[in-house]
Amino acid sequence: MPGEIMASLEVSNLSVRYGKVPALHEVSVRIGRGQVVTIIGANGAGKSTLMKAIMGLVKPVGGSVALLGKPITGLDPDRIVPLGIALVPEGRRLFAPMTVQENLEMGAYRRVDPLEVARDMERVLQYFPDLKAKLPLPAGSLSGGQQQMVAVARALMAAPRVMMLDEPTIGLAPAVVDVIAHVIGEIRDSGVDVLLVEQNAEMALEVADYGYVMEQGRVVLAAPAGELAVNPEVQRAYLGI
Ligand SMILES: Nc1ncnc2c1ncn2[C@@H]1O[C@H](COP(=O)(O)OP(=O)(O)OP(=O)(O)O)[C@@H](O)[C@H]1O
Ligand SMILES: [Mg+2]
Repeated sequence: MPGEIMASLEVSNLSVRYGKVPALHEVSVRIGRGQVVTIIGANGAGKSTLMKAIMGLVKPVGGSVALLGKPITGLDPDRIVPLGIALVPEGRRLFAPMTVQENLEMGAYRRVDPLEVARDMERVLQYFPDLKAKLPLPAGSLSGGQQQMVAVARALMAAPRVMMLDEPTIGLAPAVVDVIAHVIGEIRDSGVDVLLVEQNAEMALEVADYGYVMEQGRVVLAAPAGELAVNPEVQRAYLGI
């Protein structure tokens, strides 16, 4: 369409099954340039499955995924990551015995220019200054909140165009939730578009530009985040109002 801004990530009619059990039904989600897009939904709605399907960790049975206009549907994760998508997975999955520094370097292991990697290390540590003193420590020795910061920083070290975060604030103290929420906005402003899955709908709708509500593997609502936040159904089901 003339004049339309190209999506950084375009998911069209994506369907996924686990064996015979359907998990996603023709899900369509779009992330525009310069956007944080959130997906909210209850346990089992299919949020993590959507991210795994975008990453190539599960293979869709129908539909398509395009990154910056190029089809990536069905590619393996090690082909998709270098094209510019990074995932901060549910539960963080850090290498606990390795140091914080080593975990961050792992995020950049596909990159070849050591000067660029060193510069990015400086840059990601500006988002989380508290991590600087922790670089030589085993990642597993950090608090839950600091481990989540390492997971976000590690994903940024891959220099993605689109970053996906799967419930990054679950179980964290409110002050740490605020730090993560603030950094998500900064990441977007730095030119990395964000797909944010959250059970904390209040935080997600505050930080996001656009949002989708998923129920039982389907998108049931899609609107600018500010509209979702005042939608009576969303308020009742996800905001406890
Ligand atoms: N590996 C798997 N094998 C079989 N079924 C699965 C598998 N992973 C997820 N499911 C099922 O697929 C559906 C969607 O799960 P998914 O993990 O994507 O939901 P979710 O929205 O991320 O939930 P949560 O908020 O609990 O993380 C659920 O019914 C779940 O039980
Ligand atoms: Mg999940």
